[in-house]
Amino acid sequence: MPPLKVGLAGLGTVGTSVVRLIERQREALAASCGRAIEVVAVTARSPGKDRGIDLKRVRWVADPLQLAADPGIDVFVELMGGEGDPAKAAVETALAAGKSVITANKALLARHGVALAALAEQHHVALNFEAAVAGGIPIIKTLREGLVGNKLARIYGILNGTCNYILTRMEQDKLSFADCLKEAQRLGYAEADPTFDVEGHDTAQKLAILASLAFGTKVDAEAIYVEGISSITPADLDAAEELGYRIKLLGVAVATDKGIEQRVHPTMVPRDSAIAQVMGVTNAVTVDADAVHAITLVGPGAGGMATASAVVSDIGDIARGVRTPPFGRATARLATIEKAPMQRHEGGYYIRLLAVDKPGTFATIATRLAEHAISIESIVQRHRGERPHGGDDPASAADPVPVILITYATTEDAVRKALAAVEADKVISGSPQVIRIEKN
Ligand SMILES: NC(=O)c1ccc[n+]([C@@H]2O[C@H](COP(=O)([O-])OP(=O)(O)OC[C@H]3O[C@@H](n4cnc5c(N)ncnc54)[C@H](OP(=O)(O)O)[C@@H]3O)[C@@H](O)[C@H]2O)c1
Repeated sequence: MPPLKVGLAGLGTVGTSVVRLIERQREALAASCGRAIEVVAVTARSPGKDRGIDLKRVRWVADPLQLAADPGIDVFVELMGGEGDPAKAAVETALAAGKSVITANKALLARHGVALAALAEQHHVALNFEAAVAGGIPIIKTLREGLVGNKLARIYGILNGTCNYILTRMEQDKLSFADCLKEAQRLGYAEADPTFDVEGHDTAQKLAILASLAFGTKVDAEAIYVEGISSITPADLDAAEELGYRIKLLGVAVATDKGIEQRVHPTMVPRDSAIAQVMGVTNAVTVDADAVHAITLVGPGAGGMATASAVVSDIGDIARGVRTPPFGRATARLATIEKAPMQRHEGGYYIRLLAVDKPGTFATIATRLAEHAISIESIVQRHRGERPHGGDDPASAADPVPVILITYATTEDAVRKALAAVEADKVISGSPQVIRIEKN
């Protein structure tokens, strides 16, 4: 077999690692795939930049579209990022030219995944994207191929290392969200503008791709309910610990009788669950499937080499001539997502309130919850003025009293309505904190 000739667009963190990994694994890859894999042409923004890799035998191409159409390459690898051009135009050009494409670009796939898959199908080529979700964890192949004999009920995961790092530090070192974010930025785990990560949008893009593979539906990032972690306080993490939970930012997709629920939000997970053990920047995905029950994959969700591992796996498939439909089935067989409305979400809830100290406050709260058929599983009442981690301020009689409630399964709608009524009754100070509970 002649070598597989790779054209690589993007020579940043992931692109340079792909070049290094192909070089490092040259012989093993050739043995495994039955042919050599060679990076023959590359492009990036700045041709003169020292990237710490040897590109002497590699052709530099002026721009990504030109590389995508280059007759000297068999496969186009897009590692530039961004949901628009040049990534989108370059991927389209390569597919239309009959070249298989590999991309790590979750933003592009979350928005244009189905259209690109259709284009790949039309031209009988592959569109592989193992690196787009959870970096080095082979979750795409697991869903698309490994679990094809299963009916999936739910998939959920920690898909953003920045958020998991922040929540881990907040829990272990009793630090505020703002302090942990600053530290994550200093260590290079968080972007200068962290909004996309901490407000849950990065997780949502990845969840949209996973939900499509899990349920045979069209990728629909717009159908996802998204809430980030910036409102989580050390008091919540303390309470979680006391009640036997940990707080994680989860992306969750569940098949319900009301449709498919896709949501990203801070979540209380039982402390003994597999997902609760995942700390720091590590990612994890749990799949509930009928034949295997639950399986959890844990590993690095980012980083040059870990992500390159996923890209090289995709290149290996193309070298072997393996072509699987990008979203696990022909695009014509992908159903439109029937979106389960968030108000009808059912589950347990953690609610933290600051109850004002006046007669009848607790009776009012209890009445409002009962009016909405919400049953309380446990309740923790702190001392007046109790600071989450001690603190020197003396308690004052005017201080509100922190109250933490864990509910039995109820609906989002009931919780929202009951808490709106409690707020209108003016028996609490500030807004209640609400965190959904996900059972394993
Ligand atoms: N980093 C990770 O851990 C990770 C994990 C999973 C997935 N991903 C995904 O992998 C992709 C690449 O990420 P990365 O971290 O490697 O990004 P990066 O370090 O910022 O590198 C991006 C590369 O693309 C090139 N580029 C950007 N715009 C271009 C344009 N208009 N024309 C030509 N080249 C252009 C840049 O050129 P210059 O170098 O000349 O500026 C750079 O080499 C993204 O889709 C990302 O979401 C990354």
